Amino acid sequence: MPTPGRLISFEGIDGSGKSTQARLLAEHLRAQGGDPVLTREPGGSAGAEEIRRLLVEGDPDRWSPETELLLFTAARRDHLERTIAPALAAGRDVITDRFADSTRIYQGATRGDLRGLVDELHSLMIGREPDLTVIIDMPPELALRRGLARQSGEDRFEEFGLPFQTALHAGFRALAEAAPERCVLVDGNRAPEAVARDVRAAWEGMPV
Ligand code: ADP
Ligand code: TYD
Repeated sequence: MPTPGRLISFEGIDGSGKSTQARLLAEHLRAQGGDPVLTREPGGSAGAEEIRRLLVEGDPDRWSPETELLLFTAARRDHLERTIAPALAAGRDVITDRFADSTRIYQGATRGDLRGLVDELHSLMIGREPDLTVIIDMPPELALRRGLARQSGEDRFEEFGLPFQTALHAGFRALAEAAPERCVLVDGNRAPEAVARDVRAAWEGMPV
């Protein structure tokens, strides 16, 4: 039986640099001879990628907060069953660009105060926290500018605007304080390589 792999999530507001940092960490681990799985949410498995399109495209009011929560949870369950759990069981580390904390903050804290429901659904359907969560901390104005500059066609959440991103930013900072045993807050308002150094230090400090 291989030693189970470790699950690391990247969290933060839209445009904070999560995808960039997740990729840089995966490249670093590969350069050291590791074989990590780099994945993302919503998505990360065939079924969850289909659900992703329903979530990130279209009108900001397309779904009620409750329906949205169910869709994110369905996508996460598929991602966990098909991608994350098999990789961890095979001894591979898994790096995911967003995980359950995004639902806690986006749907739980800012989209209708569903936090109680978010936590109940999480324990019923997911039941797993990352071993390490890197929260990239970025001023919302700058992150929004970076995110919209990408013109990805996936801006449904960015279109909720600056007050929404500001509330999310506060939510992620509060989460870092509430779960210090697994969360590390990293200043994202620096050159990518400087941010990556802190991410690697957090990874290296994690219990094996
Ligand atoms: P997220 O996954 O959090 O939305 P991305 O990694 O996709 O963020 O980054 C958003 C945009 O900002 C991209 O165009 C990316 O190239 C750029 N970017 C990422 N990190 C930095 C950084 N440290 N400094 C400047 N620009 C960055
Ligand atoms: P993502 O592709 O990571 O967006 P970005 O690169 O802009 O950070 O995620 C798509 C959107 O989905 C993003 O605005 C955050 C939102 N989201 C939730 O609202 N709840 C969730 O559980 C997840 C995973 C994402």
